[in-house]
Amino acid sequence: MNKNIVCIGAGYIGGPTMAVIAKMNPTRKVVVVDINAERIAAWNSADYSLPIYEPGLVDVVKETRGKNLFFSTDIEGAIKECDIIFVGVNTPTKTFGRGAGMASDLQYWEATAREIKKFATSDKLVIEKSTLPVRTAAAMEAILNDHAKYRLTVLSNPEFLAEGTAIKDLLEPDRVLIGGPTTPEGLAAVEEVVDIYASWVPREKILTTNVWSAELTKLAANAFLAQRVSSINAIAGLCEATGADVDEVARVIGADGRIGPKFLKAGPGFGGSCFKKDVLNLAYLCESFGLHTAAEYWMGVIKMNEHQQERIVTRLLKEMFNTIANKKVALFGFAFKADTGDTRETPAGTVARNLAEEHALISVTDPKALPNAKKDLADLANVAFEEDEYAAATDADAIVLMTDWRHYPALDWKKIFSLMRKPALVFDTRNCLDAAALREIGFKVMNIGK
Ligand code: NAD
Ligand code: UGA
Repeated sequence: MNKNIVCIGAGYIGGPTMAVIAKMNPTRKVVVVDINAERIAAWNSADYSLPIYEPGLVDVVKETRGKNLFFSTDIEGAIKECDIIFVGVNTPTKTFGRGAGMASDLQYWEATAREIKKFATSDKLVIEKSTLPVRTAAAMEAILNDHAKYRLTVLSNPEFLAEGTAIKDLLEPDRVLIGGPTTPEGLAAVEEVVDIYASWVPREKILTTNVWSAELTKLAANAFLAQRVSSINAIAGLCEATGADVDEVARVIGADGRIGPKFLKAGPGFGGSCFKKDVLNLAYLCESFGLHTAAEYWMGVIKMNEHQQERIVTRLLKEMFNTIANKKVALFGFAFKADTGDTRETPAGTVARNLAEEHALISVTDPKALPNAKKDLADLANVAFEEDEYAAATDADAIVLMTDWRHYPALDWKKIFSLMRKPALVFDTRNCLDAAALREIGFKVMNIGK
């Protein structure tokens, strides 16, 4: 029997993941619920102005919404109706109490567990989709099954999609990971989740482990990716000091089959809602198990990332005669990466705040992230937001390119030069523009790692 599915949490992870599960399992009903009524209304909007931007997402939602995919605020009804419950609520870094600044804040997760227990009227599978500290499932089992009338089995199915490529990552994943108890009931539960994915993912790509391995793998995978970004950024500084070119170095390092070419792009450091939070969480776990050296090792990845963003403003200041007070700096791109409107932990936010401290006049342009940028920088004076790149560049002393939006290299850079104050500086922190062509126009050009 194809059991119905509910996902609690209709955010960046719940929305796209469930849309694809619904598309590929047309005989299952999939309901996505959230306490945020505004978000649910956006998922249900007649003109498909969805709460998040993700290439290809609208098409999948158009195909499935109202057929077998539903968005709702009726959490109680959905829990009663569905036997398979994914939990994709947020697990931000704790800002208070023990572990503040490092550990995961599990209050949303625990609230969800208590709701499931309260409303369940039959046995359920409860599947961790959120990224959680290793051994969270033990705490969840304890809450869910304490004097419970029904059996609530906890599994871990962490998500590896990256924003900007979520739909492609979901449709063609490198792997799907499902962790469960190694008891006969646990193994049977794992198979039920395998069945959901096996409708489109080749079986050999669906990897099963015990619950603790699945929980830890997710944190470890993000930490490895973040570590690669920090490693190449550490090399970038050395390139700037020595005349080496970080893109050349990365190309050759990546040609070694043991290393591989991906995640070797130097830039303004990693942003996004997860790398920092998950590396901090991993370091916290190491620390709490007495593994101090391992904790310090992972904290180095974060330190390097912060250093990279500081370096951008330091280098900009130096190039602009150590003062940017009342000079106009245009930030091209505010999203933490291209093809998303997400600005959580975006390096552009840190750079904007550093520039504001130096009393710069800031203009921000971004094709998808301006609504979030406006919220993020609401407390800063002297910030203008422009949809049009040419308006953002008008009378600017410098442009700092923060996000490698695909269309930026194709802008009319001669026109941009004519609109700017001279000497017109472009600091391309993504090394995505044609520096030689810009110099030919008359720009002063700065890059990362060159
Ligand atoms: P998000 O903030 O976009 O979405 C979480 C949603 O959960 C919010 O809409 C919130 O209102 C809702 N929520 C919170 N408490 C609730 C409750 N008690 N009942 C119902 N809804 C509730 O977060 P996100 O980016 O989707 O991340 C969610 C989890 O997925 C995190 O653990 C994150 O680490 C993990 N993850 C995210 C990504 C990503 O690309 N964003 C990728 C992999 C894993
Ligand atoms: C990352 C992981 O790639 C996903 O596998 C994971 O599921 C997700 O975190 C999560 O757990 O939330 P995401 O943060 O959406 O995905 O995007 P990435 O493509 O990983 O980029 C993260 C940051 O690293 C961006 O700021 C990006 O610009 C930066 N980056 C990435 C570099 O600076 N250089 C690179 O070579 C690659």
